[in-house]
Amino acid sequence: MSETHDLFDIMRSTRSMRRLKPDPIPDDLLRRVLEAGSFAANGGNMQSWRFLVVRDPAIKAAAGQWYRKAWHEIVGPRYRSGGPAPGTTPEAFGRMLNAAEYLADHFHEAPVWIVPCGPAPRNSGSSIFPAVQNMLLACRALGLGATLTTLYLGFEKETEAALGLPEGVHSYAIIPVGFPMGKFGPVRRAPLENVVYADKWGQAF
Ligand SMILES: Cc1cc2nc3c(=O)[nH]c(=O)nc-3n(C[C@H](O)[C@H](O)[C@H](O)COP(=O)(O)O)c2cc1C
Repeated sequence: MSETHDLFDIMRSTRSMRRLKPDPIPDDLLRRVLEAGSFAANGGNMQSWRFLVVRDPAIKAAAGQWYRKAWHEIVGPRYRSGGPAPGTTPEAFGRMLNAAEYLADHFHEAPVWIVPCGPAPRNSGSSIFPAVQNMLLACRALGLGATLTTLYLGFEKETEAALGLPEGVHSYAIIPVGFPMGKFGPVRRAPLENVVYADKWGQAF
């Protein structure tokens, strides 16, 4: 099932979809995703977010090279030298890293990037990321694959220059969006018992 409308099914299966087809995304679907973003909670309802939709292959190529460099030179080696994420096996974690590397090498091929932007300082991220999550959920509901990415921030200035952001405007993430090559599946997380406490820190819920 690629489309789904039950909120809990959507949340359970909103995984990072890193292998994307280059096929274009119909405008009406894209609008629904962006509209979902604009429904999000934000401080004082000031809606200081701006969403840059990038479809221009030249811009994606210029900015994407920094993402690729950040993966290969900084982030990839760090993850590969560490242990697996909580709640995953070494094999599953290895598959995730392979998918992340695929995304790094094909970042510019995603038909659409959504770049949520806002004013500095970045602590106003708490007013941006609810919109980001809404958009990720909306993508999943519509059968679109997406990944919240920030590792390009290793080359933040270079990437933002390639994106043509004006002075004083900062990107908070780049979300490559496209129809997924693979199937949606359940997220992998550690059991609740590991992360939820009752009344007293460390006390089982
Ligand atoms: C703040 C943040 C930054 C992230 N940056 C990246 C990124 O740069 N590249 C990437 O491939 N995934 C990125 N992710 C996705 C996470 O790796 C992913 O959510 C996590 O591995 C859990 O996998 P799942 O989303 O498939 O359940 C990021 C997620 C968050 C919340």
